[in-house]
Amino acid sequence: MRRYHSGPDFRRAHSIAELAQMAHRRLPHFAWEYLEGGAEEELTLARNRQAFADINLLPHTLVPCHGTETRRTMFNHEWPLPMAIGPTGYNGMLYHDADIHLARAATERGLPFTLSTVSTSSLEQIVAAVPEVNLWFQLYCMSDPQVQDDLLQRANAVGCQTLLLTSDAVLLGNREWDKRNFARPRQLSLRNKFDVLCHPRWIRQAVWPQGMPSMANLDRYLPADQRNAAGAAHFIGAQMEKTLDWDYLARLRDRWPQRLLLKGVLHPADAEKAVALGLDGIVVSNHGGRQLDGVPASIDCLPAIAAVAKGKLAILLDSGIRRGTDILKACALGADAVLLGRATLYGVAVAGQAGAAHALDLLTNELHLALTLLGQPDMSRLTATAANTHSPLFTVS
Ligand code: FNR
Repeated sequence: MRRYHSGPDFRRAHSIAELAQMAHRRLPHFAWEYLEGGAEEELTLARNRQAFADINLLPHTLVPCHGTETRRTMFNHEWPLPMAIGPTGYNGMLYHDADIHLARAATERGLPFTLSTVSTSSLEQIVAAVPEVNLWFQLYCMSDPQVQDDLLQRANAVGCQTLLLTSDAVLLGNREWDKRNFARPRQLSLRNKFDVLCHPRWIRQAVWPQGMPSMANLDRYLPADQRNAAGAAHFIGAQMEKTLDWDYLARLRDRWPQRLLLKGVLHPADAEKAVALGLDGIVVSNHGGRQLDGVPASIDCLPAIAAVAKGKLAILLDSGIRRGTDILKACALGADAVLLGRATLYGVAVAGQAGAAHALDLLTNELHLALTLLGQPDMSRLTATAANTHSPLFTVS
């Protein structure tokens, strides 16, 4: 990562990369690696960024611009921007009540916020704190059908209209940093304990005096003495349903009549199956490089998926979005919108809601600027001439 010297004030971060740098300084080592790391050699993690860099933009010149248009219609709803905050678990380790801060930042900008199954604020807490939130819920398939059903009922009861089933994490990816940083499950190594003591600001903003957060959505399924990080981690490890398949998804389609999206699609044949099942959308995603190392960047998979699924369901994309131009490239190649993962997490880790809002505003401003400079101020008219992402990207005029 390039080094920046922007100091501690998040408002002086001019890019997501600078926010990341600040988060790196702010967080203890184990929390930073949790946020930033990928699986094994981190090949996919690196590819996620490189693939965006490999796409060229070919602008039209002398196009008068009387303002930019970023509105998009998706799910019969008009969105101010083609982006939403995606699901990330255990955010409260970065900043106390981080899920609530993210939900507020998204809601203020008219954007959806996705709560993870393994979040540190519960569905009910989010809606109580941010009543206007456009709440999406991400589901991990649970082996106990009662737990699964209860989660769906709770999501429905709080008014959640959109469910994302994550399919690429039936087992946790091989994240070696996790093994290095902990002496035993949930027990930091001595070196990391010392490192934590060197980060008093993080201690104040994340864990003092309340301690490490639990996975609030799951608390009620655990015995009272296990409602903590260790108990929840053990529970979720045992619950993750390894036999998740298309039949399960078909049953979920019947069980959940509202919007249903499948997150973790990279193969065009799977996108076709999602269309056939009557899903409302897919998220083209490799989980930010945290699951199977060596899979392609999701942006590299997008053109083939768009070729079979565009217009038949909503196509969202995540993994590696750090710039407004990345959003522009994803939409030109067939995405209806993108999900943000680490980009807003850097912000929330540095300054809670204001930091998350800053990340959203950086991306928004970059997107508007890029549309103007590209000579195509209307997002809905962006197209790419070639399915090959290594070709120049053309716009229609
Ligand atoms: C994730 N992601 C994730 N996905 C999911 O479906 N449920 C989850 O609980 C989590 N948890 C999670 C934690 C952290 C710290 C990260 C970074 C990611 C994956 C996430 O939804 C998304 O796919 C990636 O974050 C996208 O990649 P970038 O944009 O973060 O590089």
